[in-house]
Amino acid sequence: MKLAVLKETAPGETRVAAIPETVKKFVALGASVAVEGGAGAAASIGDPDYEAAGATIGGRAAVLDGADIVLGVSGPEPSSLTGARPGALLVASLDPFRRREAIDGYAEAGFEALALEWMPRITRAQSMDVLSSQSNLAGYKAVIEAADSYGRAFPMMMTAAGTVSPARVFVMGVGVAGLQAIATARRLGAQVSATDVRSATREQIQSLGAKPIFVEGVAGIEGEGQGGYAGETSKEYRRAQADLVSSHIAKQDIVITTALIPGKPAPRLISDAQLATMRAGSVVVDLAAEAGGNVEGTVANERVERHGVTIIGAANLARSLPADSSALFARNIFNFLSAFWDKDQGRPVLLDDDEIVKAVRVTQGGRVVSERLSS
Ligand code: NAI
Repeated sequence: MKLAVLKETAPGETRVAAIPETVKKFVALGASVAVEGGAGAAASIGDPDYEAAGATIGGRAAVLDGADIVLGVSGPEPSSLTGARPGALLVASLDPFRRREAIDGYAEAGFEALALEWMPRITRAQSMDVLSSQSNLAGYKAVIEAADSYGRAFPMMMTAAGTVSPARVFVMGVGVAGLQAIATARRLGAQVSATDVRSATREQIQSLGAKPIFVEGVAGIEGEGQGGYAGETSKEYRRAQADLVSSHIAKQDIVITTALIPGKPAPRLISDAQLATMRAGSVVVDLAAEAGGNVEGTVANERVERHGVTIIGAANLARSLPADSSALFARNIFNFLSAFWDKDQGRPVLLDDDEIVKAVRVTQGGRVVSERLSS
């Protein structure tokens, strides 16, 4: 059973899908592991580190030659994958909706492609969930970026020259990234408030020492969606939320937005008019930038100034922490494959009726098999 670890080729990608620790664990399961030379360089992992863990190092052709499993972070180009065994598993974040052609290409090339970002939100899959592991780091880094761009300090400081007031940070969307943003901003000494459409987050916000800011008195919270995800809110709710944000945001120095709705554009939470009420020098970090942004005027991967406020269109911030993001990503992959490992056969056996397999499998037997891609 040969496992191939690719060097990423997507522009700006810094991560790698295996680290020496997971290589060692795959070798202990009986696999042979081949790593493409330089695959870990951006994550500060040298080829000798992989060799010491039991991997062989080679060029792409040698690494793919006869591979039964191919690991990546972002989905590789199908044309770059020649040499693997027919029916080989391809395990990566494949971005299936936006890269439909590539998915068809994996099917044609005979791969069984498994999209890690479609891992279901069930307890058993928690340790395999790359969206969570990467969002957590992004939430942390969003606050660090905001602090770096903010012309004032975060904590209150009482000095002989006078008092520095604490920064006021407002986190919108309290999922995995938002919770880590709250915790990080609190550690830096900011006064933190936060909001979400899911009422379950109220207690989580309080337990982190932040103030919940919630829409009250609007019948039901329609934002409570399926499987732990948010859904779209009603018009009435959106109007009430906009009023609440308008009155709150003018008093904030930093806003971190993280709100996402699966399969839909990111909800618009802050208008240009609301931005204009913020104090000059304030910073907004929009973690939903790649999904269209929560903030009017956000440009993904860019920093724009509106009314004296800096809007950071943060896309894939986990890439800016390549050592940690790779380690967590690699462990997610190991936790996934090892959970299905059949010791007698010396390979993972993915059962058709397993909830996880059904969710992540996108191609098999030369066809696109995911129901989510059939419409
Ligand atoms: P996400 O990335 O889909 O969205 C981020 C946050 O934005 C969510 O909390 C969502 O409720 C909020 N949001 C959406 N629309 C909004 C709006 N109009 N206004 C304000 N907020 C809005 O969510 P994420 O971070 O992936 O996690 C959501 C939940 O799922 C969490 O409770 C998390 O613990 C749970 N989860 C469970 C997993 C498991 O059991 N394996 C794995 C991942 C997450």
